[in-house]
Formats: sequence, structure tokens, C-alpha cells
Amino acid sequence: MMRNLFAILLGFLSLSGLTPETETGPFLANGIKNGWADQNSIVLWTRLTQNQSALFEGQPFIEIPLEQMKSLAKNPDLEAIYNTQIPEGMLLKEMEGYCPGAQGQVQLQYNIEGHETEKIVSDWADVDPQKDFTHQWKLEGLKAGEKYRLKIYARPTQGAQVSDSISGQFLLPAPKNVSKSVKFCVVSCHDYNRRDDMENGHKIYPSMSALHPDFYVHTGDVEYMDKPTPYALTEELMRFKWNRLFALPNQRYFFNTHTSYFMKDDHDVGFDDSYPGKDYGAVPFERGLEIFDQEQFPSHPKRYKTVRWGKDLQVWIIEGRNYRNQNYLADGPDKTIWGSAQKQWFYDTVSESDATFKVLITSSPILGPDRSNKNDNLSNATYSYEQGEILDFIKKQKNLFIVNGDRHWQYVTHIKNTNLWEFGCGAGADVHAGGWKQEDLRPEHQFLRVKGGFLSVSVTQGEKSKIQFTHHDVEGKAVHEVVF
Ligand SMILES: [Fe+2]
Repeated sequence: MMRNLFAILLGFLSLSGLTPETETGPFLANGIKNGWADQNSIVLWTRLTQNQSALFEGQPFIEIPLEQMKSLAKNPDLEAIYNTQIPEGMLLKEMEGYCPGAQGQVQLQYNIEGHETEKIVSDWADVDPQKDFTHQWKLEGLKAGEKYRLKIYARPTQGAQVSDSISGQFLLPAPKNVSKSVKFCVVSCHDYNRRDDMENGHKIYPSMSALHPDFYVHTGDVEYMDKPTPYALTEELMRFKWNRLFALPNQRYFFNTHTSYFMKDDHDVGFDDSYPGKDYGAVPFERGLEIFDQEQFPSHPKRYKTVRWGKDLQVWIIEGRNYRNQNYLADGPDKTIWGSAQKQWFYDTVSESDATFKVLITSSPILGPDRSNKNDNLSNATYSYEQGEILDFIKKQKNLFIVNGDRHWQYVTHIKNTNLWEFGCGAGADVHAGGWKQEDLRPEHQFLRVKGGFLSVSVTQGEKSKIQFTHHDVEGKAVHEVVF
């Protein structure tokens, strides 16, 4: 009798979508992300999930016509947003990639590699259901140049057994007086639907791991809220897309094990080329920023930072969405992408720096060239004033290079008879590449490849330090190199 009751109960649970697995969680299906590392601190992020993995075997979303999306984006009819994209009679929780969050507690343990006895163990902390069941730790007082091992544990309630755990690591930058070779990788523009390894995620992740970079920078457009299956016109759908992407094995493994800097761009927030006032469906522009900045990625009070990686390298991480005004404004001294505080900070910190090589990393191009119909970045005619201001400053610097994402083609631009160089890393998969014609090679192009991949930057220390910019295809093969 008892057994029958149990079978009936199990049947009921699975019909309602509450499989018995939910009783044994919570799990850590979205892994760990870190951010904002400097010599002595880093921010760690994790999320509790109901299941061990996302529902990758779930039902496909319906792709609605672009015009219908635009109409829903303008007049967000919640029922229609869901009904048009989810097949009739089905629920969001049955759809491909569903990865629901779970209540519970997390604990962090970490130590310098090889120093297990000096492990630091955090208190158990509740994840925040208001922030999609995530939790963040800001670690301070760390030791520059060291590699740290970490482990995160999950449990459903206070005093309960551990239900899941996950291991990771990160490397901190060496102090400014330490001469050391450094390598980092830069990626832009990818999403779940355009992954090139259907089972595991994006090929660039194992390709980058094989190069053993010290750190990694994503320049933004990590996921596309305004691309179909589904168009993420509500906060719930935005989270659905974040959770689905971060459950992919390649992404998870790479983010668990590499020091990272996550920048953002328009598609992470909502509409293409978005700016204040350009809300996406039921998600105000500012809310899109907030979900990225405060919830789905490691947080930092300002979204820009400069980090010295040893004697020879200093990088500047630039924020390109939070401080801009509207793209349609007339060009002039008040029209900005960077905002005046960030610009002044950039001028001041570059002027103070004695690093051999300086790399400015920006979500979108400064030099370009870009298509003439665009009006969203500093290389576009409608931002000539601010572009001129920033380039006038860069022209006076020694060994300062621009690295950027956003454009879906790989390129190297050099303006003849100047010190201006820009390296566009290109899109994260071949299927994502486009937007420029391979035969449209302009005089400023030193290299052009309309394919996916990533950029690596290596600083080699020696009698005379060198910096090398290498474009790679998605498999990791070098396709172009420039050395200074
Ligand atoms: Fe993009």
C-alpha cells in the first residue's frame, strides 16, 4: 500500500514537472564566474539550481517573425510574448535550456594552490531569490601573483547535508615591479543558439584553454536578448537565456577555471544599439543593465577598471553602455559613450602608468572602419567629436593599443603615419560572423577575416619586452600575428 502511494506520488511529481531530483538539490548547474580581479581582490559568483543540468532535451521555442517581435517590444503584451513563442499547451519549464533556480545556502572554501592547510572557509550564506538565486563573494586581502583553488558547496537548508559542490581556480595579477610573461584572450559576440558545438557550447573555449591564458576578457554581447527562440522580452526570459548559456559544459568549465573580466554590450541588455530610453518589451533599459551588473555577473561599483598585470602590461576595461546618452543626439562635446567621469579617469590613469605596454579594451570600435549606416560606436560619423577627443589623447601615448569586440569580423586597423592600432577580436563562432564583405579591404586594414574565433595577446619579457597580437580561428589556429 505504502509502495503504491509512493508510486502515485512520484507519478504526480513528474507530471507536475517536479521530478524527484528536485528533492535532492540544490545544485550548481551554472558553475562559478569570477570578475574584477586585481592584485589583492576578486569577486566570485554562483547560482543554486533545482537540477544538475539545464533541460537541454526540452522542447524548441517557436521563432516568430521579426515584425511581430518589434510590435511586442513596443507594446509588451505579456501573454502574447509567451503564447507566440511557446507551443500551445506547453509551459516555459518544458522548453529547451530551462534551468530553474533554487533556494538554499552556499559556502566557499579557498586557498593558495599548494597551501591546503591555510584554507579559508566562509560562513554559509543564503542565495538571493530576488537576484535569481545567485550569491557573490568579494574576496580581499589576497596575495598578488598567486593561483588560488576554490570549492563551492551547496545545501538546501541550515544543518542539512551538502547536496552539490564545484571546484574552480583563479590566478591573480603579479605586482607592478615583477617582470613576467603574460597572456590573455579576448572574445566577443556569441549566444546559445549560434554555438558551434551543439552538445558542449562554443569551440573557442577549449581552444583558449589549450593556450593557457593568464586571464580572459569577454567584451560583451555574451548573449542576445533580441534574437529569437526566444526573444527575451521579459526579465524571466532574460534570465532563462543567461541560465541556459551558463549551463553549457564548455562555458562552465572555462569560467570555473580562468580569471575573467566580463564586459557588456547592447544585446546583453535588450535591443541592438540600445541606449537610455530604449526599453526592450517589459524590460526597461536600466533594468537590463542592472540584471547584468548586479545579478548575472560579478558586481563592481563602477563598471570600469584598470589592472596592472606585472611590470610590462596594464589593461583598461571600458564600460560602453552605462554612461552613454542617446545615439540620435547631434554630435558635439555633450554627446558621449564613455561619460565624462570615465574619460577623465582614463586620461589620469594612463598618464600615471609606467607599464611597458598599455591595452585599452573596449566593447565597440574606436577606429573601425564600420558600416556607414551605423551610429552606435566611436568609429561612426555621429560620434566624431568624442572619437577625436580620445584619439588625440592616445596619439600622445607610447605603446597604447586598442582591442575591441562588437564587430562580427576579425580585423587589424592601423592609421598610417600614426601610432594608432586597433585589434577587433571578431565573433565567437563562424556561424555568428558577418556584417562586412571579405573583399572590402580598406587602406587602413592590415588584416581582415570575416569568420569566427578570438584574439590572444602575449607579453613576453626578456632583454627587450614584446607584445604580440594573434587572431585565432575557433579551433585555436593562429591566422594572423602582429608583434611590437
Ligand atoms: Fe554582437
